[in-house]
Amino acid sequence: MNAVSLPRLSEAVYTPLGSEVYRGLTARPRTLSPWLFYDQEGSRLFEEITTLDEYYLTRTERTIFEANADAIIAAASAPTPHGIERDLTIIELGAGTATKTGLLLRAAIRRQEAVTYHAIDVSESALDEAQQHLTAAIPGITFEPRVGDYTEGLGVIPPDGTRRLVLYIGSSLGNFEPEEARRLLLGVRNQLAPGDMLLLGVDMVKDISTLVAAYDDASGVTAAFNRNVLTRINRELGADFDLMKFRHKVRWNGAHSRIEMHLESLLAHDISIPSLDLSLAFRRGETIHTENSYKFTTEGVQHLLTQTGFTVVDRWTDPQRWFGVFLARVH
Ligand code: AVJ
Repeated sequence: MNAVSLPRLSEAVYTPLGSEVYRGLTARPRTLSPWLFYDQEGSRLFEEITTLDEYYLTRTERTIFEANADAIIAAASAPTPHGIERDLTIIELGAGTATKTGLLLRAAIRRQEAVTYHAIDVSESALDEAQQHLTAAIPGITFEPRVGDYTEGLGVIPPDGTRRLVLYIGSSLGNFEPEEARRLLLGVRNQLAPGDMLLLGVDMVKDISTLVAAYDDASGVTAAFNRNVLTRINRELGADFDLMKFRHKVRWNGAHSRIEMHLESLLAHDISIPSLDLSLAFRRGETIHTENSYKFTTEGVQHLLTQTGFTVVDRWTDPQRWFGVFLARVH
């Protein structure tokens, strides 16, 4: 028990958080992956974002579900060309607090009386909240929470003769580079059987001022959400970021069809992260790229789904065509 004492200093570099922060902040340009936003405070701030006037995404997708939940469930349950009608098991990737999912779960219960709902998310507190409000409000639902990364989570759900409907809504796909998005959808596809379904909800390309306002709201909630990643790094890795020295910066990148969020250093200064043995020199105006939020066209989504082994069977949108919900079948 006493022969070797391992160095303690850089253990943090082997944790998912530490290795991502090390990789991202030593890269040029500096980047941080958006999954780092979602500590408890970040998850709370994201929920607040979804209620902002400027952030049209959540309420628009909700109106689509309100108007079409029965049609969506009917289309997802419909017989395949060579198959039979089946009850659905609903699996949600990145379920969060699942506030919109209740609309689909209720529609499933209207059709098939009982439904099993597997909710996969990295945030345990979000899943607890989902469980509380869904099981109280929807009799007939069997709630199966799974804390973890949804790229691995599907395979462990035992087959039971039902058809799987995987929900990937809320424009979560928009955080991924096109190549990563393809890999992710292929990974989902490869854990499903022919006839299983995917419901994909994505934010559509629209006028730039609407897009930018959604990520640069007047009340500064999105700015706080962006800066909170630095608070998290201070707390969990012992860094000394001063939030006042970074500005929330949003831009539309038309060439890549994405909104970008950055944190821009307002002055030249040094940051130290002792647990990673890191000392960083920021120049004035230097940025940390914290998020991409890709915006889609109908053709782009069709192409992406076709490339990854799905056939689009139906789609729904809102009157302004701001948000798109695509139902696709595994072929
Ligand atoms: C959770 C990835 C859909 O990109 O709109 C909201 C995250 N970032 N405001 C999005 C987010 C800033 C959100 N997604």
